[in-house]
Amino acid sequence: MAKYIVKHSGPLNGEVVISGAKNAVLPLMAAALLTDGDCVIKDVPALRDVSVMKEILISLGSEIESLEENVLKIKTEDILSTEAQFELVNKMRASILIMGPLLARKGRAIIPHPGGCTIGKRPIDLHLKGLSALGAEIIDCEEEGYIEAVAGPQGLIGDSIYLDFPSVGATENIMMAAVLATGTTHIENAAEEPEIVDLANFLNKMGAKIKGAGTDTIRIEGVSKLGDVRHTVIPDRIETGTFMLAAAITKGNVHIMNAVPDHVKPIIAKLRECGVIIEVGDDELIVRGDLDPQTATDIKTLPYPGFPTDIQSPFMAYLTTVEGFSTVVETVFENRFMHVSQLNKMGASIETAGNKATIRGHSKLRGCQVMATDLRAGAALVLAGLVAEGETEITEIYHVERGYEKFIEKFASLGADIVKIED
Ligand code: EPZ
Repeated sequence: MAKYIVKHSGPLNGEVVISGAKNAVLPLMAAALLTDGDCVIKDVPALRDVSVMKEILISLGSEIESLEENVLKIKTEDILSTEAQFELVNKMRASILIMGPLLARKGRAIIPHPGGCTIGKRPIDLHLKGLSALGAEIIDCEEEGYIEAVAGPQGLIGDSIYLDFPSVGATENIMMAAVLATGTTHIENAAEEPEIVDLANFLNKMGAKIKGAGTDTIRIEGVSKLGDVRHTVIPDRIETGTFMLAAAITKGNVHIMNAVPDHVKPIIAKLRECGVIIEVGDDELIVRGDLDPQTATDIKTLPYPGFPTDIQSPFMAYLTTVEGFSTVVETVFENRFMHVSQLNKMGASIETAGNKATIRGHSKLRGCQVMATDLRAGAALVLAGLVAEGETEITEIYHVERGYEKFIEKFASLGADIVKIED
């Protein structure tokens, strides 16, 4: 298996440009199934997950053209199949996002059960609750390992849905199903992430009538047909946070461009609490870890606008290096401390009790062989490797390459000593 070799690197310095957001582009691509018009999407990051979503759309009848680097044109004249293939769905949990569009456009969707992953069971009960509220019949074929959703004879009918948890994926799936439903749908306790707003903007450009995205109540007035759309994906706030932490942990000076500071407010606030100097521009940030001594803080992950769970593990890697004791509470996923054992193997001193981790700071990290247990844990180990003595070998890096475009190149351009060793 391929691996990264990360060597102790000095302070990272220079400029980095943030790519389009993985967690925005995947729902946008799924939403392209809703129209027979042209969907031109710009700032599409070159990621494995994007390639998988392309394969899924093509298997359902979409034509996809790369107009230029990072620009896709998706056209789905008609949906030729309403069944997603197991081997594709199995590669990426986000495939569940095609369920709403397939139901809305063709009245039927068959999706293999999306498996869980290392960070949690990842149930889809809220997705199914929302789709059935719109009149879909849900047939859970446990033995055969797939779920079928079938719209009623009049198609989907708008209704009000309360989400027990502000699930990002469930909010996206229900919103996409509702845009072509008869009547109006309200999603209460909806997720408020920027990726939800980006999807609503994309759908409204197609002719949908969505109001309230970004708040906890979203109103969707069904329309009969959607048209063409041209849209640029929002920058990736999690990649932004990752490079902010890279500047902090290495005591460097990094200029982050094509960012949306508003989307990373919790990360700015927490790093400033630690003593990192952060200058904020309209679409850029300058992060200075080289000016003042850095000290501990406490973080608790929450749905947006709270502290993002996807930055929890990279932030924990950083906290192992600052002076003092920190605590990290993970409230979004039930098993998102898999990186703790790997960081402790490098010499960190982290104890966990349930969903709370206590980090004794100022650890002298030592390079060794560690394993990426999920996308963001892999990024956390790279950050730790940059400041650990000697050399850190990170395996299972396919996780990382799912979600960070030009990961090695961007870090190396800032002065990181990191290489990828193929099999
Ligand atoms: C999205 O996952 C992101 N993925 C995740 O990013 C991110 O961590 C997560 O939102 C939270 O911000 C994409 O957008 C592709 P959820 P999603 O539904 O939609 C429970 C990354 O690293 N839940 O908001 O799956 C669930 O078990 C990935 O880029 C239910 O109980 O997240 C979890 O505990 C990791 N029932 C919590 O809600 C449901 O039907 C949050 O899940 C759905 C979810």
